[in-house]
Amino acid sequence: MGIFRTKPITAGGHDAGLRRCLSATDLVLLGIGGIIGAGIFVLTGIAAATDAGPAIVVSFLVAGLACAFTALSYAELASAIGGSGSAYGYAYAGLGEIVAWIVGWDLVLEYGVATAAVAIGWSGYVRDALLSLGIRIPQAFARINYDAVWALMLRWAHQKVPHAVAVAAHTGGFVNAPAAFIVLALAGVLIAGVRQSATANAVMVVIKLTVIAIFIGVAALHVTPGNWHPFTPFGWPGIMRGAAIIFFAYIGFDAVSTAAEETRNPQHAMPIGIIVSLVVCTAIYIVVSGLLTGIVPYFTLNNASPVAKSMLILGYPKVALLVGLGAIVGLTSVMLVLFYGLTRIFLAMSRDGLLPPFFSAVHPRTQTPVRVIILCGVFMALIAGFTPIGDVAELVNIGTLAAFTIVCGGVLVLRVTRPDLHRPFRVPGSPLVPLLGMVFCVYLMTSLPVVTWIRYVVWLIVGLAVYAGYGRRHSVLVRGAAESAAT
Ligand code: ALA
Repeated sequence: MGIFRTKPITAGGHDAGLRRCLSATDLVLLGIGGIIGAGIFVLTGIAAATDAGPAIVVSFLVAGLACAFTALSYAELASAIGGSGSAYGYAYAGLGEIVAWIVGWDLVLEYGVATAAVAIGWSGYVRDALLSLGIRIPQAFARINYDAVWALMLRWAHQKVPHAVAVAAHTGGFVNAPAAFIVLALAGVLIAGVRQSATANAVMVVIKLTVIAIFIGVAALHVTPGNWHPFTPFGWPGIMRGAAIIFFAYIGFDAVSTAAEETRNPQHAMPIGIIVSLVVCTAIYIVVSGLLTGIVPYFTLNNASPVAKSMLILGYPKVALLVGLGAIVGLTSVMLVLFYGLTRIFLAMSRDGLLPPFFSAVHPRTQTPVRVIILCGVFMALIAGFTPIGDVAELVNIGTLAAFTIVCGGVLVLRVTRPDLHRPFRVPGSPLVPLLGMVFCVYLMTSLPVVTWIRYVVWLIVGLAVYAGYGRRHSVLVRGAAESAAT
C-alpha cells in the first residue's frame, strides 16, 4: 500500500532554493523567540489562579519534562534525518505517509492556530498600551463582537433590531484590526528573507529577556513566603490541569526544527538550537512563576496581564509598563517564529505532493516561499481579525502533544528499523527517554477538557478528508511507485 511507504532518508535535507545562512546561535534565538510569549505573560497567572495555585511551578516542571524528553527525540531525528519538514519529515521517513500527514496536519494546527490566537492577545496588549498613551483604537476596529456584526447585517436587511443587539452594534466590534495587521506585517518580514527575520527575532529576544530580568530583579526583593501557602490548593489534578494548559508556554521550540534547510551544518546546529533554547526557557519559567506566586496571592492572578499587574500591586508602575512592552515584543517574536514554521511545513508537504505545488515555489531573489507566506498571512489575518480563535487555544496543545508523541515513537521505531542510520546526536537513555516522552505527552493530553478532544477529532477528520481528496492521489511516493510499476 502506497500510503504506508516511507521516504528515503536524506540527512540534512536538500537545498530547494532556500538560503542556508543560519547558525546554531540563530537557532537558539529562534527557539527562545518562539517559546517565551503568551504562556508566561498571560497563561501563568490564569493557570495559577484557577488550576494549580503556587504549585504552578510543578506544572511548569511537568510540562517542561514532557518537552525535554521530546526535545531530545527531536534532536536525534533532526541530526539523523534533517529536512525542513520537521516532525512531519521525521514521521515520513520512519512511519509512513499517512502518519506523516497526520503529524503535518497537527503542526499546521499548532503553528497556524497559535499564531492567530497570539495575535489576538497581542492586540489586547497593544490596545492597552496605546490607551495609556492617550490613543484610543475605535471599538469597532479593536475586537470582534458577533452581536455587533449580526446587528449590522440585520440593519442592512432593514429588520427590526432588538435593543440589546442595537447597543452592541453601537459599541462596535466588527474586526480585530490590530490582530490582522500584525499578522500581515510579519508576513512582510518573512518575505524579506530568513536572515532579516532572524535578525528581527534576535532584537526582540534581547528586549524580552531584558524585561524578564528586570521583573526577576524587582520581584526577588518582594517575596512573601506566606503567599506560597497553601502550595497545592487544588491538589494533583489541579497541577496536571495547569501543566496541560501552560504546556502552551513551551510550544515553539519545535519550530526550530523547520529551519533545517536554512541552517549551516544542521546536523550539528539543530540539536544545540532545540535543547539550549528549551533549557533556558524552562529555567526562566520556573523562576518567574515561582516569584509571581511569591509576590502576590495566587488567586489575584486571574487576569490578562498578571505579570504587569503584580508590578503595579508592588508599586512599580514603570516596571509594569516595561513588562507590558516586553509582552508585546515577546508575543511578536512568537508569532514570527510560528508563522515561519507554518510556511516551512507547507513547503515540505507540498514538495512531497501532499499539497498542491503552488505551496513549494521559492522566490529566486528573496529565497523565501513568498506565495505560501502571503497565502498563510492573509488566511491567518482573516482568522485573527474575524474570529474568537483565542477561545480554542487549547486545541494547539492537544495537536502539538499528539505530534510530540509521534516524534518520540519515531525514535524508537527508527532505532529498530534503521539501526545503521548515522546519528550525530543520540537520545541518551533510549528507549526509556522517548518512552517517558510518550507517556508524559499522552498523560497531558488526557488532562485536557473533553471539548478540546472533540474539536481535535473534528480537525483530524477534516485532515484525513483532505488527504483522501488530494494528497493520496498526488503523493510523490505513490506516483513514483505507479510509474515504476508501469515501466
Ligand atoms: N510558547 C508560545 C507562547 O507562550 C506559543 O506564546
